[in-house]
Amino acid sequence: MSLEVPRPRGGLVPGSDGAAVPAREPEVTVELLRRYDRPGPRYTSYPTAVEFHAGFDEAAYREHLARASADRDAPLSLYLHLPFCEERCTFCGCMVIITKKREVAAHYLDYLHREIALLAEHLSGRRRVVQYHWGGGTPTYLSVPQIEALSATVSRHFDIQPGAEVAIEVDPRVTSFAQLETLRALGFNRLSMGVQDFTAEVQQAVNRVQGEDQTRALFERARELGYVSINIDLIYGLPFQTLDSFGRSVDAVVRMRPDRVAVYSFAHVPWIRGNQRRLRPEDLPSPETKLALFVEARQRFLDGGYQAIGMDHFALPEDELARATRSRTLHRNFMGYTVKPAPDMLGAGVSAIGDVAGAFAQNVKKLSQYYAALDAGRFPIERGYRLSPDDHVRRHVIAQLMCNFHLDGGDVSRRFGIDFDSYFARELEELRSGPVADGFLEVDGGRLEVTPRGRLFVRNVCMVFDRYLREKTSGTPVFSRTV
Ligand SMILES: C[S@@+](CC[C@H](N)C(=O)[O-])C[C@H]1O[C@@H](n2cnc3c(N)ncnc32)[C@H](O)[C@@H]1O
Ligand code: SF4
Repeated sequence: MSLEVPRPRGGLVPGSDGAAVPAREPEVTVELLRRYDRPGPRYTSYPTAVEFHAGFDEAAYREHLARASADRDAPLSLYLHLPFCEERCTFCGCMVIITKKREVAAHYLDYLHREIALLAEHLSGRRRVVQYHWGGGTPTYLSVPQIEALSATVSRHFDIQPGAEVAIEVDPRVTSFAQLETLRALGFNRLSMGVQDFTAEVQQAVNRVQGEDQTRALFERARELGYVSINIDLIYGLPFQTLDSFGRSVDAVVRMRPDRVAVYSFAHVPWIRGNQRRLRPEDLPSPETKLALFVEARQRFLDGGYQAIGMDHFALPEDELARATRSRTLHRNFMGYTVKPAPDMLGAGVSAIGDVAGAFAQNVKKLSQYYAALDAGRFPIERGYRLSPDDHVRRHVIAQLMCNFHLDGGDVSRRFGIDFDSYFARELEELRSGPVADGFLEVDGGRLEVTPRGRLFVRNVCMVFDRYLREKTSGTPVFSRTV
């Protein structure tokens, strides 16, 4: 049955599950949705983190850092993980530590300072940072003096370059004007604010009550302070969301005019995140409604003058992400979409992931292990992955498709010294009988182009190129659903 049929823009009709669905994107049908809505990675990396293994250890990481230090002038990305939150949002899929005990964070920071110094020590003078991000958890859990001290440590060991992307994630419920002012004075020029949904019923169901006025006040203060780019996060697929209520949240965001918006698909992974088990499955929207929620939000952002970026982001046309999309030069790493890719990325803090000289390395998640490693003068590496030549090719292919919805097979052949058509003969065959036949992808003389309707399903196109997914035989769920 068709989820949507062509009719004038703006009308709502009952969907297959009785929920109202928007009268747009007429080509998306329930059959296609069912066929493509299967567990799949978000491809913030390839190979994905599930391939990381303990065989890649601290010694391997040191070896990769040594290799990375060979070119002292090459730029770096730097990510710091600040895992603390006062309370847990029920939907949260991030690596967080919930505590109201401030001394826990103070102790953690002592070690984070040490890890930053240790990294710098092993990079033999390589210092230039072009992309720098504090993520969490909630980095504004830290007090103003803690923020200043951490920033000072980073500046002592690294050179944040003029024009660098310097970003922080803030939870408007716990962020003060004083923190915003301090961060701006320290050189932060990008903010990402968590909102998710402004509807009271949804907020209560996910244990995140956040007034629209409070969010808007913080947003406006950030504008006055001159943050170059402000992002707002929304999530679709949360309990009790309807097209109408989520549409109103989207409209409120459109009126605020953030430079960027992320509209994330709710990653429902209760087998990994125990806190999500508190959500009642019967309160969650059906897969059909979930897709319709995204379609609705997408249309409202487009109508509001935003440009679609990658799979699930939107940006004002003058924002650099929008410009990079138009010129097909968008990149993506663990920190999200970027126009300032550095060949290597350092991660510091529990669970942080680095990407150094052709290997991923992830830190331990437990505080006790993190402290023990640093006390012994070791990097707190838990696991990682050294990319093979084949991984590099596929990583490039997947990143191009995810970011720019386009792939030039000839360029891949030249870049990696392969013959694209024969190297990927099996994948191209699979694409022809799936995404191409369904109108999600066009293949023309070695060029792949994801169609506008296929953008919703770009993960599925990428999954065809994922060698590890192909080799998986276990039926255990690992990823959330694609839509
Ligand atoms: C670290 S939080 C942002 C900063 C701050 N902690 C906050 O919540 O405002 C990063 C973002 O991840 C997204 N997120 C968290 N859990 C998610 C899930 N299970 N599925 C999809 N997105 C999720 C939310 O949109 C959230 O704003
Ligand atoms: S969504 Fe943000 S505030 Fe909520 S628990 Fe996760 S990291 Fe903390």
